[in-house]
Amino acid sequence: MADDFLSSQPQPWPPLLQLSAAVLFFLLPLLYLLFLRGSNGEARGRQGNSASAPSLPGPCRQLPVLGNLLQIGSRPHRYFQAVSRRYGPVVQVQLGGVRTVVVHSPEAAEDVLRTNDVHCCSRPPSPGIDYWREMRKLFVVELTSVSRVHSFAYARAAEVARLVDTLAASPPGIPVDLSCALYQLLDGIIGTVAFGKVYGAAQWSPERAVFQDVLSELLLVLGSFSFEDFFPSSALARWADALAGVERRRRRIFRQVDGFLDSVIDKHLEPERLSAGVQEDMVDALNTFAGGIDTTAITAIWIMSELMRNPRVMQKAQAEVRNTVKNKPLVDEEDIQNLKYLEMIIKENFRLHPPWTLLVPRQTMQPCLIGGYNVPSGTRVFINIWAMGRDPMIWDNPEEFYPERFEDRNIDFRGSHFELVPFGSGRRICPGIAMAVASLELVVANLLYCFD
Ligand code: HEM
Repeated sequence: MADDFLSSQPQPWPPLLQLSAAVLFFLLPLLYLLFLRGSNGEARGRQGNSASAPSLPGPCRQLPVLGNLLQIGSRPHRYFQAVSRRYGPVVQVQLGGVRTVVVHSPEAAEDVLRTNDVHCCSRPPSPGIDYWREMRKLFVVELTSVSRVHSFAYARAAEVARLVDTLAASPPGIPVDLSCALYQLLDGIIGTVAFGKVYGAAQWSPERAVFQDVLSELLLVLGSFSFEDFFPSSALARWADALAGVERRRRRIFRQVDGFLDSVIDKHLEPERLSAGVQEDMVDALNTFAGGIDTTAITAIWIMSELMRNPRVMQKAQAEVRNTVKNKPLVDEEDIQNLKYLEMIIKENFRLHPPWTLLVPRQTMQPCLIGGYNVPSGTRVFINIWAMGRDPMIWDNPEEFYPERFEDRNIDFRGSHFELVPFGSGRRICPGIAMAVASLELVVANLLYCFD
């Protein structure tokens, strides 16, 4: 199951691109002469801001042009972890034409996310970047405000009640697909927040089902790497992407998303819906919530999997919720603040299973010092939070799911403790954090309360 979930992470190197990588490989000498020599030379010439800082360590065996690109495989966080075990917490790898630094320690993560936040908060140019820009623009105001998150409590309560009813009605002895149910629940909650009440309406189900497939594909496409990501501003890379059908696939998916959004807008323009107060919904949040559903759903599925794998933790969590909430059909959001063990379970889960294993990449806008090393401007920076969560220098028995470790350690996951930053930190912190946590707590508490 672990592997299933991990494989739902962004896939950096789909099979078609592997084929094209092989084609590129044979064109290496030509490519080298054409465009890389110049750009690398320039990169080497730039200096960081401390003359005494050592040069960045990292694997020195690199292919010309491709650098370490073929080594990263489909789970780059694992490759980077292996490199870091050999070379230290801050390592440099060459991904095609892009100099990349990967950070594996809380101190260096703080350098990126706090000390140099202003110099490291740019996203690297990429065909998918407009998505992130739009996401932030539309969501930051709406989702960061606690009152806004409270105002959607009705959507969370309705979807959780629907989930509990569906599970309770399933015949005894027949297995239930909890992953699918949780995905639909999060899709219902966040979809209502983004598109309005119309999203949860029964007559909308066929469109919603199609949209969910499109969203899954959209996430794969946005999460996957293209040649242009590694050879920015190279006409050859764009040509290779065109050959691999990357651009065509992107355009087709964006067209489908647009079609769906058009129907959402049409529904919202129906006069009877407007008079029913639907205008208060956040219709204008449009095509930006795909990542929010996926990350929250994957987290909920991981939590339930860990509870099933760890009966001791499950029983303790169940006892807590059942002793706290009494004589009510369902747990409500007010009860949640008294569930301290549940909070620790959520932290422990984020430590072991952050949905964004490497955070979203940043790019330095001017030279800066990270972990004591000079990092030139224009470097892509990844923070390997997956590896930090499993680092024995930071956590005792890191592979064990043991929520009690947070009893004595006052560590939060909201961006100020750099050993646990599943939502990032600083200017780029996830604006959906309050929405995600409120949904996760409510659904897990209710599953523990209502079912054995
Ligand atoms: C468990 C759930 C979630 C996790 C772990 C998560 C994690 C993240 C992370 C790591 C980033 C990048 C931060 C960085 O680079 O420092 C991010 C960005 C973002 N997230 Fe989330 N997220 C979750 C849920 C949501 C939800 C529910 C929404 C909204 C519906 C959302 C909206 C966004 C947006 C708009 C950005 C872009 C921020 C930017 O680029 O400036 N996220 N998220």
